[in-house]
Amino acid sequence: MKVIAATSNPGKLREIVRILSPLGFEVIDPPDVLKVEETGSSFLENALIKAKAYFDRFGMPTVADDSGLEVEALRGYPGVYSSRFYSIDFGGQEEVRGSKDEANVRKLLRLLKGVDNRRARFVAWVVLYTGDSGVFGYGECRGTIAEEPRGSGGFGYDPVFVPEGYTRTMAEIPPEEKDRISHRGAALRNLVRAVQRISDR
Ligand code: IMP
Repeated sequence: MKVIAATSNPGKLREIVRILSPLGFEVIDPPDVLKVEETGSSFLENALIKAKAYFDRFGMPTVADDSGLEVEALRGYPGVYSSRFYSIDFGGQEEVRGSKDEANVRKLLRLLKGVDNRRARFVAWVVLYTGDSGVFGYGECRGTIAEEPRGSGGFGYDPVFVPEGYTRTMAEIPPEEKDRISHRGAALRNLVRAVQRISDR
């Protein structure tokens, strides 16, 4: 099945292609990157908003992902604000020096300075939208927030996220191993299982 990936995030796109290709999907880059306002109050709602916007524009089955980091000591923040946490008024705004990812990580580490409870989880909702139906998948990956960034792989908060059972950060783990344990890997595999169950009926 040929699908468009509804994302402008190169890190996410790489992972979606890597995970879905061996499962029988040909994932194509969108011909244009759309600027979609993520106005939903949940990951699921935002995934559907993105999928619909790309479907309406390109008329092809679309896979969208909405994901983020939930930190226990921050009552679930950054959550749906993960990609623009640096600009959210949550104990001061972070100056953008370097990339947005770096500003987000700096803000997170500043807010967690001296905080003992460093438990967090990545969550992802993915949707395959075909115009008249949507199939969803959910995944999460539990872990803790490190004191300092480590590693150069992945994207976003990977350099400060240590998955449960690991001492390395997600940015120090090889890509195939990240896919096996990540929220996005789990969500996409759950999505594909749901699609298969429907087509077997
Ligand atoms: P959105 O789904 O486009 O709103 O953005 C999700 C944001 O959550 C990303 O910009 C990252 O900051 C963060 N995020 C989601 N998944 C991951 C991941 O696998 N690793 C690191 N950060 C992630």
